[in-house]
Amino acid sequence: MTTDLIASTDVPEGEIVKVELSDFPAVAIARHEGKIYVFPDRCPHADESLAEGWLEEGRVVCGVHFAEFDLDSGEVHNPPAGCPSLSFYKFEERDGMIVADLAGGPENV
Ligand code: FES
Repeated sequence: MTTDLIASTDVPEGEIVKVELSDFPAVAIARHEGKIYVFPDRCPHADESLAEGWLEEGRVVCGVHFAEFDLDSGEVHNPPAGCPSLSFYKFEERDGMIVADLAGGPENV
């Protein structure tokens, strides 16, 4: 089963947008150099919101302890102790809408 998340045009370049959902935990959607990334709005380190962070040089930066997650690999840089990498949801753009299979959970890329 797939879930409609947000219109693609509502995710500006260089931004991270939080999408609240009734059936699943919130997701974060980022656009970097035109490409969309969908991931849990929960830092792998300590469950803080990644949408409250920012994008920098192709990485999501968590604003709490400043872990940096590579958008293309999920690899963590500058990690606090015990911080794992970030996983992403598979998604597609359908009729201008970003649609993801959230039930399958995020996966390592
Ligand atoms: S909560 Fe994100 S780096 Fe600690």
